[in-house]
Amino acid sequence: MSKILILPGDGIGTEIVDQAVKVINSLNSNHEMGMTLVNGLIGGIAYDETGSPLPDETIKTAKSCDSILLGAVGGPKWEVLERDLRPERGLLGIRSELDLFSNLRPAILYPQLASASSLKTEIVSGLDLMIVRELVGGIYFGKPRGIEIRDGERFGINSATYYESEIARIGHSAFQIAQKRGKRVCSVDKANVLEVSELWREVMEEVSSSYPDVTLSHIYVDNAAMQLVRDPKQFDVMVTSNLFGDVLSDCAAMLTGSIGMLPSASLDKNNFGMYEPIHGSAPDIAGKDIANPLATILSVSMMLRYSLNQLELADKINLAVSEVLDKGYRTKDISVAGDKVVGTEEMGDLIVMALES
Ligand code: IPM
Ligand code: MG
Repeated sequence: MSKILILPGDGIGTEIVDQAVKVINSLNSNHEMGMTLVNGLIGGIAYDETGSPLPDETIKTAKSCDSILLGAVGGPKWEVLERDLRPERGLLGIRSELDLFSNLRPAILYPQLASASSLKTEIVSGLDLMIVRELVGGIYFGKPRGIEIRDGERFGINSATYYESEIARIGHSAFQIAQKRGKRVCSVDKANVLEVSELWREVMEEVSSSYPDVTLSHIYVDNAAMQLVRDPKQFDVMVTSNLFGDVLSDCAAMLTGSIGMLPSASLDKNNFGMYEPIHGSAPDIAGKDIANPLATILSVSMMLRYSLNQLELADKINLAVSEVLDKGYRTKDISVAGDKVVGTEEMGDLIVMALES
């Protein structure tokens, strides 16, 4: 019996999470998974209903659950709010409150979607890389921060900070994941300019001595961005800081044809996790039944794999996605001429049918 907190959030969050819930219900009926779902509030909708983008109740419920499934947060409606009340603060807050420091962002190209990538097929076909992003430290959370008046003008400050222990623990995550994959870790930093990156590099070297079966390399972040579009298949696991990981994971996502395909996991030291698609709330297409629910459905697969230890069911979901793509069904974002374009709801139903067939 697992208890899952469902946090749909804003924009397309509700409609894509609904499809993932269909998948969970199907697993409950057909595989006696006995997952119980509780709903909670986060983001703009949480602000509207409670005055806070991360109500205490949400954190309290999260701590009583085995896992969390999140849709997306944010939208223009809330951009005018004071910074601490904005939806994104809810997301950053839950990551930090639950110490979900290890963010896994796989970029896998489904061969059926090779033509949807903006890169040539031979560059991306077979792509399977994992970005391991530090999620609760670095410049996102470093102090001092703020906007103040200095010398008679406005002055903005953020601080890129890491304790060695914070670097070491994300390093261990990356090496342990690499052990189960291609046994290569590439650490991304800016050690030619930033002291915090110099320390990052040193600690990655230290951590690597515990993993003699894994090869460690280092790359500067600007070069990493270039290499990701030049020859992405050279990478197995990339490990990096919060901000660099944010940027590089969007870039890696697009190699696969659509950001609408990629799930993510954010784990604490006990593999308690929050699972979410890496795309945002896409307010411009919300409520139109055109959003791609596959990243959210694949997030359920990651949940089964990393937190609930149900590897077979995780594989089964991945297979169902593959089968539906094989049949030519696509949401708009991943379609090319000749595809059978379906809406959000229908895509969810197709995955459930494939799971149950
Ligand atoms: C992500 C998002 C978030 C981040 C935003 C919404 C705060 O871009 O999960 O990548 O920057 O971490
Ligand atoms: Mg991002």
